[in-house]
Amino acid sequence: PICGDTPPSTTFPVARPRRLRYNPLVRELVRETELSAHDLILPLFVRPGAGVRQEIGSMPGNFQLSPDTLVDEVGAARDLGIKAFILFGIPEFKDATGSSALKDEGIVQQSLRALRKAHGSNVLLITDECFCEYTDHGHCGILCDRGGILDVDNDATLPILAQQCVSHAKAGADVIAPSGMMDGMVRAIRTGLDDAGFQNVPILSYAAKYASGFYGPFREAAESPPSFGDRNTYQMDPANGDEALKEVAIDLAEGADMIMVKPALSYLDIIRRVKERFQVPVAAYNVSGEFAMVKAAAQKGWIDERRVTLEILTSIRRAGSDMILTYHARDVAKWLRAG
Ligand code: PBG
Ligand code: ZN
Repeated sequence: PICGDTPPSTTFPVARPRRLRYNPLVRELVRETELSAHDLILPLFVRPGAGVRQEIGSMPGNFQLSPDTLVDEVGAARDLGIKAFILFGIPEFKDATGSSALKDEGIVQQSLRALRKAHGSNVLLITDECFCEYTDHGHCGILCDRGGILDVDNDATLPILAQQCVSHAKAGADVIAPSGMMDGMVRAIRTGLDDAGFQNVPILSYAAKYASGFYGPFREAAESPPSFGDRNTYQMDPANGDEALKEVAIDLAEGADMIMVKPALSYLDIIRRVKERFQVPVAAYNVSGEFAMVKAAAQKGWIDERRVTLEILTSIRRAGSDMILTYHARDVAKWLRAG
């Protein structure tokens, strides 16, 4: 049959939402959510050395870089329209307290200076603030004995966390993003930054960060898996939603400027609730495992990578996030460019 041949009933359907779907130009006009390279933050991994460009097995297209190759990588991404980056460091040495995180010559500090020198204010440099990459035990802070069990000592970790942040700010970080889920971390960092003269450096707090299986590939990339136990005493239980709102409320009260929900895809409800409740800038972290699943299925030819990636990122924005940290950033910027 030819479209329109069936004689219309005058009474049914009452509503015809398809009217706004026939013409692609109308679809564009009424589209509610737009993806843009402006809203993407690209995570990057840096380690000591020169000329390093080691692909991360479970994260195709993502590399461990040295400061020199990092400068080139950021330049190339900037040319694609990506302006914001978050840095993760893999240090020269690890010890019980993660002391390499605090050094002026630390890997992230060096990288910040190199990037600033090469790219000036054309790039926004965000630093992940945590100790799991720097401690020999792989936990996110200093350990203490809690009734025979080793656990992260919350209050002993706060001052060194503040020191790490100040050190990164001194080296040129534009935004400080603490990810360790320590109680009181935002207040400790805000005070540390203010006392050091960085009262205008914003904090993007990983406020609602879940103890997630989706971090697997990242822990390989950052060489940061816990050597024993898990992160369940500091990261959140995936079963909880109200608790995320409490975490966000606390971090905002302590001075967070922007907050993050992580991971993204299994937590779209959390993104939506946080946005509706607080109306502050919300970042969502489309984490390594979410990325790896798409890449693996696409490599097998089981899904259309471009279509699925754009659908996922659009859904993360539609849920209420303003910005997305994603390993797909380069691909997406290219696709958006090609139109
Ligand atoms: C460090 C940190 C992690 C991620 C970001 N910062 C790992 C973890 O908490 O174990 C995960 C990012 C990703 O999976 O892409 N605390
Ligand atoms: Zn950590």
